[in-house]
Amino acid sequence: MLAMNYRGPLRVRIDHKPMPKIQHPQDAIIRVTRSCICGSDLHLYNGSVPDTRVGMTFGHEFIGVVEEIGAEVQKLKVGDHVMVPFNIACGKCAFCKQELYGNCHESNPQATAVGGIFGYSHTAGGYDGGQAEYVRVPYADVSPTVIPEGMDPDDAVLLTDVVPTGYQAAEMGGIQKGDTVVVFGAGPVGIMAAKCAWLFGAGRVIVFDQVDYRLEFVRNYAQCEAYNFREIDDVVVFVKKTTDWMGADVCIDAVGAEAAGNAMQTITGRKLFLQAGSATALHWAINSVKKGGIVSIVGVYGPTDNLIPIGNVVNKGITIRANQASVKRLLPKLIDHIQNGVLNPKALITHHIPLEEVSDAYRMFSAKLDNCIKPVLVPPSARM
Ligand SMILES: NC(=O)c1ccc[n+]([C@@H]2O[C@H](COP(=O)([O-])OP(=O)(O)OC[C@H]3O[C@@H](n4cnc5c(N)ncnc54)[C@H](O)[C@@H]3O)[C@@H](O)[C@H]2O)c1
Ligand SMILES: [Zn+2]
Ligand SMILES: [Zn+2]
Repeated sequence: MLAMNYRGPLRVRIDHKPMPKIQHPQDAIIRVTRSCICGSDLHLYNGSVPDTRVGMTFGHEFIGVVEEIGAEVQKLKVGDHVMVPFNIACGKCAFCKQELYGNCHESNPQATAVGGIFGYSHTAGGYDGGQAEYVRVPYADVSPTVIPEGMDPDDAVLLTDVVPTGYQAAEMGGIQKGDTVVVFGAGPVGIMAAKCAWLFGAGRVIVFDQVDYRLEFVRNYAQCEAYNFREIDDVVVFVKKTTDWMGADVCIDAVGAEAAGNAMQTITGRKLFLQAGSATALHWAINSVKKGGIVSIVGVYGPTDNLIPIGNVVNKGITIRANQASVKRLLPKLIDHIQNGVLNPKALITHHIPLEEVSDAYRMFSAKLDNCIKPVLVPPSARM
């Protein structure tokens, strides 16, 4: 089958790989109909996630048709068109029982922090992902969900990550009515977080990025203020000034380890790997939130050290909330929001690209070319 193949930092290509097989009675094999490239894939692509092995297939946001099921699979049927949440979860462990599906204790024997994630390095379990024609899906009865009748596949594929992640970013912010919410990052996740902040009662939403077409997009899509941080002397002072010197009520980091904007962070975090990525957006979030405010982090960082201003966290009495999104927990509510027209995620998809052109797709998404917000890879069988 055709599959994306990681060859080392900044090198991915399309390749032929063996078909995945049922390895456990609870597995299913899915024929992919759409898979996205995510900002999280860029951390892998840039080589900043530990234990990303050559030969791996990325892709944790995908939908597809059930081709084959293991002997113990009862809910899914061959022929079902399903969305597959990016978290791999057993559904039974103590963490899954608390609906912390991103922290499943069974699906990732390599680590005690994160659970299994499709196509996300051996740190997240070493599972091959969905940027391929076929993919093996473990615990098939737990998270995969049949796409509701009439739902556009482009909406469905964004329900496997971007929509729940943006929503959870806002939810973790504990937004109160009238709050000023600052979102760092106008990628798909930041855009969705800004949109969802209103659902929790925000009174003002401000987004920062350095890419003008994304700022323009988020301004229209999420009806918020949006600023290019390259045109601002000091982002933290800017936020303080515009909030009567109080600071934002809630700050959301939707950037993560690839943040730009501070030379020291970029050199130590992204060039020399002296810390697990550059923590520029997180610095700005911590320093521009008000005393007693909440910082919600969905931007992804490597699991080792970061230079973060922990003293400011203590002295300001900030609450920090963070996690991988718990997709299965949020799916029922977010399906409703799409069906009722509250959210229209497919508007974020700017490019449908043949799976065979995966290396060009990575280059474009990574370099923010061609006004790209969210690219979707479409395998040959789904184009017929
Ligand atoms: N927690 C989760 O469950 C989860 C799920 C999906 C994605 N993520 C993470 O969310 C983050 C965003 O994902 P995405 O798909 O939107 O990625 P993306 O790369 O498309 O977007 C990131 C944006 O941040 C901007 N940026 C860079 N430095 C900045 C700074 N200092 N301040 C403000 N903006 C800055 C970039 O220009 C870019 O537009 C990534 O770290 C990704 O790994 C987390
Ligand atoms: Zn993702
Ligand atoms: Zn579990």
